[in-house]
Amino acid sequence: MSQPLVLGIESSCDETGVGIVRGRELLANEVASSMELHVRFGGVVPEVASRAHLQALLPTLRRALDTAGVGLSDLDAIAVTAGPGLMGALVVGLSAAKALALALDKPLYGVNHLVGHVGVDMIEHGRLPRPCCALLVSGGHTSLLAVGDIASDIRELGSTIDDAAGEAYDKVARVLGLAYPGGPAIDKAAVGGDPKAVAFPRALTVPKDLAKHRFDFSFSGLKTAVARHVETAALVGREINLPDVAASFQEAVCDVLSAKAVDACRFLGADTLVLGGGVAANSRLRALLEERTADAGVALRRPSPVLCTDTGAMIAVLGAAVVEAGLPPSGLDIGANPGLPVTRVLV
Ligand code: KG4
Ligand code: ZN
Repeated sequence: MSQPLVLGIESSCDETGVGIVRGRELLANEVASSMELHVRFGGVVPEVASRAHLQALLPTLRRALDTAGVGLSDLDAIAVTAGPGLMGALVVGLSAAKALALALDKPLYGVNHLVGHVGVDMIEHGRLPRPCCALLVSGGHTSLLAVGDIASDIRELGSTIDDAAGEAYDKVARVLGLAYPGGPAIDKAAVGGDPKAVAFPRALTVPKDLAKHRFDFSFSGLKTAVARHVETAALVGREINLPDVAASFQEAVCDVLSAKAVDACRFLGADTLVLGGGVAANSRLRALLEERTADAGVALRRPSPVLCTDTGAMIAVLGAAVVEAGLPPSGLDIGANPGLPVTRVLV
């Protein structure tokens, strides 16, 4: 089967996504977000997210089929996020996918959400070259990956030892009095700010740390440094300069992410870096990576910002890659795995 028609269902966090692809061609990408329900809590409330998925799933599926102009019986396979993510949220998507697979007698593929964030780039820029290095930056994960084959061969070079990059954005946004989700809010607040105004720390970048943590990250000290800066200003009755603090924090995150990503490409002998995950939508990260990969002679592949967040499209296109690779479908008895490691593409 060369160009499988695949339905992808994503429900790991607060977005109900249904995507449809034919091979790498995107036919539909419908997303219903429950984000506004979580704003007043300052973060995603798992039970609220699960209920919202339950309500949104069928209408979102219907919209995706209408947009793609296909019927359920036309599908060659059903792909679904099996993990990682919130248990209750994952179960909603997985149950729907199992029901469809059973009723339609179609093969089911339970795939990895994180690998979907990397693979989504294939929709716009074609197959990934081998080897390829990936910088995965999402709300819950931050990793540097060696991608041999998107369907079956992912190796982790390093990851965060504490907070993920997106988590740092969300926590710092709260400290700065900005709304959830913090990433887009800080990205916006940083416009016009001086990224050199405050010298925030860049963890795990000095030679003694690099020996053990060359491809690892740490953002919790940075988050504390921003909190100290804000507290100190309050103590002495000084207003903080929001654009300067936001830009300086953002620069510290993006400086470390981009420097380590380019180093990982060198280490792997990879001439391509692919960016994925919610934080991949960040304007400064995209710009700094563009500069640094160009200097290093590395091609940078960045999905459009709309494809950086959680979508059914990323699950559908990863599912299509798995089908094309001829891998066996998952059994109908697979369970959701909130802690699924990034190295396990297919469950
Ligand atoms: O990948 P994603 O949609 O969900 C997870 O799989 O976790 O990532 C969500 C994260 C949130 O932490 C959000 O604040 C962050 O991505 N994010 C951004 C931007 N847009 C979303 N971070 C920085 N800059 C942005 N423009
Ligand atoms: Zn995600």
